[in-house]
Amino acid sequence: MRIVLGVGGGIAAYKSASLLRLFTEAGHTVQVVPTESSTRFVGIATWEALSGHPVSTSVFDAVDTVNHVRLGHEADLIVVAPATADLLARAAAGLASDLLTNTLLMARGPVFFAPAMHTEMWNHPATQANVAALRSRGAVVMEPASGRLTGKDSGPGRLPEPSEIFAAALAAAAPVGAAAGRLAGKTVTVTAGGTREPLDPVRFLGNRSSGKQGAAVAEAALAEGARVRLIAAHMEVPVPAGAELVQVETALELRDAVHQAAAETDILVMAAAVADFRPGELAENKIKKRDDGADPVITLVRNPDILAEAVQRRAELGSGPALIVGFAAETGDGTSSVLEYGRRKLERKGCDLLVLNQVGRSLVFGQDTTEVRILSPQDAPGTEPIAVAGTKAEIARHILDRIADELDAPLPSH
Ligand code: CTP
Repeated sequence: MRIVLGVGGGIAAYKSASLLRLFTEAGHTVQVVPTESSTRFVGIATWEALSGHPVSTSVFDAVDTVNHVRLGHEADLIVVAPATADLLARAAAGLASDLLTNTLLMARGPVFFAPAMHTEMWNHPATQANVAALRSRGAVVMEPASGRLTGKDSGPGRLPEPSEIFAAALAAAAPVGAAAGRLAGKTVTVTAGGTREPLDPVRFLGNRSSGKQGAAVAEAALAEGARVRLIAAHMEVPVPAGAELVQVETALELRDAVHQAAAETDILVMAAAVADFRPGELAENKIKKRDDGADPVITLVRNPDILAEAVQRRAELGSGPALIVGFAAETGDGTSSVLEYGRRKLERKGCDLLVLNQVGRSLVFGQDTTEVRILSPQDAPGTEPIAVAGTKAEIARHILDRIADELDAPLPSH
């Protein structure tokens, strides 16, 4: 592969020398494109010696070859490490102020950023907005590692180890033209996390969903070579590197994002915990305690059933995802078992597969291990699908295997 290694101006720039070596030892051709400020940490001579290619920071060197056009077009992968706050901001804004940012604008292949900066800079809303913008355009932005930073401070912001960047960057490049993976060439949309329904500017109704299962499904789909769009409500776990992120807050926002994505999605997996109700009114200002001591009354209204709507829209439009997968978390009670509730939900929602979880007080929410059964309308009556137990990553692989099996088998027409 032809890799462009962009190097930003941070103290961690020296670690990119090891990253460069990993790429070249694995047989890749690497063109290093440092920013001007990064050459204060590692000089051009070092990059030229290690890569075996001439190195420049400016579009005005080697003008005859129109370097940035050639570099951007020819690169099978662009890896920026370390990506400083400044570099992420320039990339997000689409600035073309040096050879590296010009190359990023000309990129045709996957673009990968490994950030490194102080924790405050990483957590700053400006940086987070830039990261979100880059991810929404399909770039992969790794989560920085946590630990001791340059000064006395510690927290998230360290450049991940070169070996981790190496593995994650190659994984990000894999879907392009990859024959590997059972879902190569397919687009998978996964919803994850818990929606938050605002009451007033500072309060919301939420739920305990951590987003772990949805994130694990997204990761497993990426590993199978799929293009993955993650529609994320509130999540407590990082977004898997390589997924295109659509951030939402409420059930209604999630609904819009799902219906918009459905037209260009082969597989829709509804792992999000969608609030069934939202406050009927959103107070413009913070709800205050009343002088007369009266308790406030919150009226709730039903949210749409997004999964059932997605199934219905597919039938109405005659197009949409080939496979729609729902999740159900059930406890069972004196009148019906978990399986009976699952079967009824499958029928009510009309989806193609339903991943049934048994939940209890300590089961499932926020936990790493779980047990599921996958129900299908094609199951023979009276049969009980086998229960599969494991970590959420193992369950996700099991779900993706089943999805790939269903796609391989001739599907009933919807
Ligand atoms: N779901 C949805 N829209 C909603 C509620 C749920 O799309 N308003 C989806 C979830 O993402 C999940 C599936 O429906 O894939 C089942 O969610 P669950 O909360 O178990 O179903 P409910 O319809 O809310 O059923 P219950 O009456 O048991 O709460």
